[in-house]
Amino acid sequence: MADLPMTVRADGLPERVTIYEVGPRDGLQNEQAIVPVAVKAGFVRRLVAAGLPIVEATSFVHPRWVPQLADAAELMTELGYEGRDLPVLVPNERGLDRALELGLRHVAIFGSATETFANKNLNRTFDEQFAMFEPTVSRARGAGLDVRAYVSMCFGDPWEGAVAIEQVVAAGTRLLDLGAGQLSLGDTIGVATAAHVTALVAAFADAGVGTDRLAMHFHDTYGQALANTYSALQAGITTFDASAGGLGGCPYAKSATGNLATEDLVWMLTGLGIEHGVDLDAMVATSTWMAAQLGRPSPSAVVRALGGAG
Ligand code: HMG
Ligand code: MG
Repeated sequence: MADLPMTVRADGLPERVTIYEVGPRDGLQNEQAIVPVAVKAGFVRRLVAAGLPIVEATSFVHPRWVPQLADAAELMTELGYEGRDLPVLVPNERGLDRALELGLRHVAIFGSATETFANKNLNRTFDEQFAMFEPTVSRARGAGLDVRAYVSMCFGDPWEGAVAIEQVVAAGTRLLDLGAGQLSLGDTIGVATAAHVTALVAAFADAGVGTDRLAMHFHDTYGQALANTYSALQAGITTFDASAGGLGGCPYAKSATGNLATEDLVWMLTGLGIEHGVDLDAMVATSTWMAAQLGRPSPSAVVRALGGAG
């Protein structure tokens, strides 16, 4: 299958995109079983070796809230120097302190577009979340760190239902105003559809936030992630979050399932002739290996089609 998919370029799409891999973090935070640190380190190393330019490694959140990632410090210590440039989630100053102690250089805060999810995921009201992030971002920036911000529930919320586009833009611009460099728009429960993506990107543009500062973070719960990605490409987005083998979810949003699979994204980008720098065979081998570690097949259509369901 080395010469497939055939490459047929479409007008008006970007020449290259950056894939921001979230498998070790978004993928493994939602696994029932606790994955051993050595396996996590092996997973991260394989992803880097497959050509992924950014691999989000873990989260410095409260270990009781996400026991699956309670070994964050051990993992980053195990990765040593090669882990320094991998981003990690930090919700607050305590998480930042833990990342700084290890000499890490890239952190990501994660806010919510809705009141209910701010409460469930961060134990804060909508407004209180910004009060928690403000000193976190200013201290991170002061220490020379690069800060990404996520905003969750951008396309719908399992408790509140529809989420107004203006509300998402308001939350996102508040996170950027704190000093975050990039904003990743999270479809936490996978309910986005293609024109909704176009409308949200346009609303950010109207608010002065261009596509160079935005990333898209699609979960594939309703099978829309690739269609939404294509729509975002047409709107000029060039950074896409994805998870090896389609692992993923959020322990505080039960209706969240796996992220857009990195392999599915790579297949589509290759067909479109968009540069991404990722070795698909190495990805499929990695997800097949990880599926064997987790004891269940990968949900990625491309991993399955290429014979590596695990
Ligand atoms: P809290 O209970 O309100 O914390 O939790 P607190 O500030 O009241 O502190 C209570 C105690 O926890 C204190 O200890 C703190 O030191 C300690 P004590 O003084 O009582 O001994 N503590 C910590 N310990 C270790 N690391 C920390 C930390 N912070 C406080 N960072 C908190 C608030 C934010 C910590 C909690 O709600 C939490 O950890 N939430 C994380 C939830 C999470 O990780 N969710 C999944 C990631 S988000 C996601 O998946 C969505 C995304 O993929 C995008 C999308 O799909 O939309 C990004
Ligand atoms: Mg997510």
